[in-house]
Amino acid sequence: MPAQAARARVGASRVGAAREGTSRLGAACEGAAQVGAVSTILGSCLPTCGEGHTRKPRVRPPPAYTHLTMPGIVLVGAQWGDEGKGKVTDLLAERADAVVRFQGGNNAGHTIVRGRQTFKLHLIPSGILHKNTLCVIGNGVVVDPKVLTDELDELRRRRVDTRSLRISANAHLIMPYHMMLDHAGEAKLGKLQIGTTRRGIGPCYADKAARLGIRVQDLLDEKILKKKIVAALEPKRLSLRPFAKDPRLDLQTITEEYLTYGHRMANYIADTVRLVHERLDAGQTVVFEGAQGALLDIDHGTYPFVTSSNPVAGAACVGAGVGPKDIDEVWGVIKAYGTRVGAGPFPTELDGDLADEIRERGGEYGTTTGRARRVGWIDLVALRYAAQINSLTALAVMKLDVLSGFDRLCVCTRYRGPEGAEFDDFPYHQTMLHHVTGEYVDLPGWSEDLTEVREESDLPAAARDYLQFISDFVGVPIALIGVGPGREEVIWTEAGAGMAGSGKAASAAA
Ligand code: GDP
Ligand code: IMO
Ligand code: MG
Repeated sequence: MPAQAARARVGASRVGAAREGTSRLGAACEGAAQVGAVSTILGSCLPTCGEGHTRKPRVRPPPAYTHLTMPGIVLVGAQWGDEGKGKVTDLLAERADAVVRFQGGNNAGHTIVRGRQTFKLHLIPSGILHKNTLCVIGNGVVVDPKVLTDELDELRRRRVDTRSLRISANAHLIMPYHMMLDHAGEAKLGKLQIGTTRRGIGPCYADKAARLGIRVQDLLDEKILKKKIVAALEPKRLSLRPFAKDPRLDLQTITEEYLTYGHRMANYIADTVRLVHERLDAGQTVVFEGAQGALLDIDHGTYPFVTSSNPVAGAACVGAGVGPKDIDEVWGVIKAYGTRVGAGPFPTELDGDLADEIRERGGEYGTTTGRARRVGWIDLVALRYAAQINSLTALAVMKLDVLSGFDRLCVCTRYRGPEGAEFDDFPYHQTMLHHVTGEYVDLPGWSEDLTEVREESDLPAAARDYLQFISDFVGVPIALIGVGPGREEVIWTEAGAGMAGSGKAASAAA
């Protein structure tokens, strides 16, 4: 077996390190030891398996059974976005050598709260606050260069060193006409609109697929840039007719504006695939930071009420230029309840006072658009589906603190459809999905404030039971629990503590 393959399988155990944990939460999945043992065996034969292969074998740290290593970790949203990915990425980035955004664009809004400072990042990876961590905007991301340069300016203004940023030369650019088309498309749909962020994401990915896209590298060559803009505009004449007189559509204006961005971005543009592989080959830790969430995935989400990229873990490979075997762990970030921005089915949605209360307590207003988020109970049918399509190896459950003070908490374990139909699994049919409602198990709530809790064992019994129920139902251990917006307001479970050398274990060792 080639060394690379053997190594990858070491890390690729679906249960991986997380299931080794002794914690109650971590113990959710049985059979872990067995998988780990197989990994150990594979791991121990690595040096000999590697001989005779031309590719330089990866110097990876000891096998996964020790649950100390995870060179390639993908972090994805496992609901409808805004789960707290920015915070978790920032935490993992402390011990990572690189953080790579692999899809989406500035439809994302990732929040990091550090002391009194709040950072809202849209394009720049959430590792940027760590000076020595390489931050990559991968080829799968769509880049609005105005937003990117503004974000860079703002970070510099706040004395954040941004020199570690690199942008893939192959990433596609959001152009002014993409934003116009996004607006126009939504307006045309009227009541049926998706509720996009109107950042031009869909039209940009559409151009990419139609091979009419303009890439970051095109900013470095005026002639090519102009030619490509002409080619991209041509088939859009009809749909852009309402904007015919808009100065933002003038060829010369766009070219000049984008050349200026190119000039400002030039030092950051790089062959990011090579940079990522250099780190992986050296056994370093690379965090792949997803945007949006599984249920907004264009293939697997609640189509057409989705975004135009694939926020699932598999897309990390495509959007960063690595293979599936470079991924060792997949963390799904979730909220302890549910939220959604924009239109589309949301089977556990709440309304009235209860919804308002959760929204206010959780500060559920969009990071990018400021829109009030729809809120609901946690949906374990959807979450189990998300665990499946992402191969989740661990969960990070954020915002548990928001649920303090409710007598009872509802947990959706099944859907009921029209005419009494019942669904244990996430329905594939759009019509069905629009008509199902949640069926719930009632769990006792807790009244204690959780924001000061740092140990799993100090959580109220009802909170631990709530987490245990989620973990058992989904079949994925919990590595991290969020109890407040601040970066220190987390609980590392035993399962999570050893992973990526982060959290308690690392702090203790440091
Ligand atoms: P992302 O898009 O997944 O990065 O999430 P957002 O940043 O859009 O939204 C998550 C919001 O929840 C942000 O305002 C975070 O500061 C906040 N947050 C993250 N974790 C916690 C937590 O454990 N408790 C509370 N109360 N807020 C949190
Ligand atoms: P983060 O990374 C929540 C939603 C929009 C809309 C749909 C399509 O912060 O979790 P788009 O502009 O992508 O064409 O809109 O997707 N959406 C998000 N919802 N969090 C996000 O990102 C989102 N990015 C897009 O509200 O319903
Ligand atoms: Mg967000």
